[in-house]
Amino acid sequence: MSKVTQIAHPLILHKLSFIRDKNTGSKDFRELVEEVAMLMAYEVTRDLQLEEVEIETPICKTKCKMLAGKKVAIVPILRAGLGMVDGMLKLIPAAKVGHIGLYRDEKTLKPVEYFCKLPQDIEDREVIVTDPMLATGGSSVDAITLLKKKGAKNIRLMCLIAAPEGIKVVMNAHPDVDIYVASVDEKLNESGYIVPGLGDAGDRLFGTK
Ligand code: PRP
Ligand code: URA
Repeated sequence: MSKVTQIAHPLILHKLSFIRDKNTGSKDFRELVEEVAMLMAYEVTRDLQLEEVEIETPICKTKCKMLAGKKVAIVPILRAGLGMVDGMLKLIPAAKVGHIGLYRDEKTLKPVEYFCKLPQDIEDREVIVTDPMLATGGSSVDAITLLKKKGAKNIRLMCLIAAPEGIKVVMNAHPDVDIYVASVDEKLNESGYIVPGLGDAGDRLFGTK
């Protein structure tokens, strides 16, 4: 069964309040999403495996730890997931980045796929799917299904804000995928928006409305 981790660090919750505020413009919104993604990346990667390596300091040889085994792939769900990539790359600069293009049809609320380009060795990577919003769960479920079809085996999902309904949907569809969120909000409204949420993440990031 998926593990759901809420990363309720004071700095994250403080920045998330500005992100939610309708008076925050695109420039600040973008910067804040990037900062929160960077802070969350610290927790999302907490269980990455280490190996012992020998190095030489200016004083002597010593054994220390470095990341072992699987390398990371960050896979944003376009468009809004893109806003989290640069923050994550600040902490994991060697990660490769894949892209999955999905948008929610406004009437049916079902995701429509329009793009998929992944690192060739996706099956050997620890994949972190990023999307600020987990609402009905349709987009995340479809993105993860697509990743599995392309061979990805180790996948985790990282969102800023989730609705309880969406978490359940992802957990049922992909019980092997752990979910990391900064906030679990109250509910979805009749238009499929998260309440209180932050509005339309893509539009607020890119200034398209
Ligand atoms: C938003 C958001 C998620 C999706 C969440 O994207 O970034 O991808 O909706 O909704 P769901 O959980 O109900 O599927 P949107 O479809 O608006 O596309 P955009 O990022 O291009 O604006
Ligand atoms: N997508 C968004 O961008 N915001 C929501 O509240 C729900 C889906």
